[in-house]
Amino acid sequence: MKKLIAGNWKMNGSVEMTQDLLSEINSEIDGDLLDKCGFLVFPPALYVTEAFKNAGTYIDVGVQDCSHNESGAYTGEISAAMIKDCGASHVLLGHSERRQYHNETDELVCTKAKLAFDNGLIAVICIGETEEQRDNGKAFDVVEKQLAASVPESANAENTIIAYEPVWAIGTGKTASAADVAEMHSFIRGKLGERFSDSENFYILYGGSMKPENAGELLATPNVNGGLIGGASLKADQFLAIAKAAP
Ligand code: 13P
Repeated sequence: MKKLIAGNWKMNGSVEMTQDLLSEINSEIDGDLLDKCGFLVFPPALYVTEAFKNAGTYIDVGVQDCSHNESGAYTGEISAAMIKDCGASHVLLGHSERRQYHNETDELVCTKAKLAFDNGLIAVICIGETEEQRDNGKAFDVVEKQLAASVPESANAENTIIAYEPVWAIGTGKTASAADVAEMHSFIRGKLGERFSDSENFYILYGGSMKPENAGELLATPNVNGGLIGGASLKADQFLAIAKAAP
């Protein structure tokens, strides 16, 4: 299984940055890197078209969220069908920033994921506990519940990627230890195994302050099939260094 190196740009960037960042990454992707990594970026939706012009053949492009409605009078929303129509392949769902700032629930994420599947998109479903939940010994309960309620029964390894992002590690410079990541990813794999016959083939990404300095160890951790990278995905050299650090 190749490692998937995915960049979530969040609300950062511009037309010029999209052009520069993707053409720089694209120009550095060579056969050696492609042997061990796949690439995916989530620019802000407005820049997806510009992203395609500069992403080349080997960088997939996704969108950071979609509506839980199919179409109609929902001002400001973007449907899964539109994302597919624009040529994107993936949609990021249930990121902790959406759960926190937009009150997204597991049930809402699940509805969005079903719409993503109906429209031929791959859903990257984010789960992860807060610092308080971890300190209270609740990390595994929280992740189990999120996984059970956010991931539809119709999920499989072809249409779904799980991203474990401990909230306390996002944008903080704090990274979960390799041992904690190994334990949680193995737990997630086990829970997937209770529901899905192809659980061994699901990609499970780690996200939360992944940087060139810690990527080698994290990406070599059992059941870590790639990274979902925020800050370090905005700099071509850092994003590429993370990929190069993959085993
Ligand atoms: P950072 O890499 O900036 O911690 O962000 C992780 C993240 O939220 C990716 O979705």
